[in-house]
Amino acid sequence: MDMELEGRVAIVTGASRGIGRGIAGGLAREGCRLAICARGAEALEEAARELEELGAEVVSRALDLTEPHAAATLVSAAVEAFGGVDVVVNNVGGNRRKPFEETTDQDWSELFDLNVNTAFRTTRAAIPEMRKRGGGSVVFVSSIFGREAGGPGLSIYNTTKSAMISAARIMALELAPEGIRVNSVAPGSIRFPGGSWDRRVKEQPEAMEAFVEENLPLGRFGTVEEVANLVTFLASPRASLLTGTCIPVDGSQGRSLI
Ligand SMILES: NC(=O)c1ccc[n+]([C@@H]2O[C@H](COP(=O)([O-])OP(=O)(O)OC[C@H]3O[C@@H](n4cnc5c(N)ncnc54)[C@H](OP(=O)(O)O)[C@@H]3O)[C@@H](O)[C@H]2O)c1
Repeated sequence: MDMELEGRVAIVTGASRGIGRGIAGGLAREGCRLAICARGAEALEEAARELEELGAEVVSRALDLTEPHAAATLVSAAVEAFGGVDVVVNNVGGNRRKPFEETTDQDWSELFDLNVNTAFRTTRAAIPEMRKRGGGSVVFVSSIFGREAGGPGLSIYNTTKSAMISAARIMALELAPEGIRVNSVAPGSIRFPGGSWDRRVKEQPEAMEAFVEENLPLGRFGTVEEVANLVTFLASPRASLLTGTCIPVDGSQGRSLI
């Protein structure tokens, strides 16, 4: 199937490793031109080179997206290099595990800033550019734990990931008349070299074997390519009737009925 993404301009945040890097690769394979960011310049440059080897034109910016003007800088870089924006993938995010009682105002505001405000600022900066193109696609990388209870210690992560899904749903309503679609994806446990699950498997192999058996019906972790396939589809005009939805990509790990 031709995904009709050839020549489209896609911004992917946090694309120097893991899921973001996988998504950027998926979009590159379909012919997108890419604007990517991460804080660490070295890994980002390596990711950019890898994307160029796939045939993509790439602009990269080493920046901390939690800084107030960073999102605008990234969007401007895409516009200066490629003349506009068609796709935004909000992938930057992280976790902070703590019992709720021990969480501080600072924990809450820092993780909200990292998981939510970075995505909102990037999207706000890109909307006028997508409007100029007559439409676009925004994808938020949430989590199955934005759709259901993740468990003790995850109050902040759970809340921020639910907030992304909730806001995306409203953005979809507001932007539908302009042809800008807004969706979120909810990955389950995704393993890649150097990622958090990879580390845990190496540190506690037996516990992780039990985790897989109890929680992952397919008997394995997900891959970044499997998340990238879904995001690439949502980014593409092939997903023209999909907006305001949240799609799990979790091999049935999630327990939500909806
Ligand atoms: N892995 C999973 O199993 C899983 C499951 C569900 C949902 N998710 C979600 O998927 C997304 C990606 O997860 P991942 O496991 O691939 O994460 P990761 O390995 O930690 O990668 C995060 C990426 O974002 C960049 N980044 C982090 N903070 C940044 C900042 N302040 N400014 C700019 N770039 C920043 C990182 O590069 P630098 O560190 O160099 O900045 C890196 O490129 C996250 O939103 C996560 O919550 C992951």
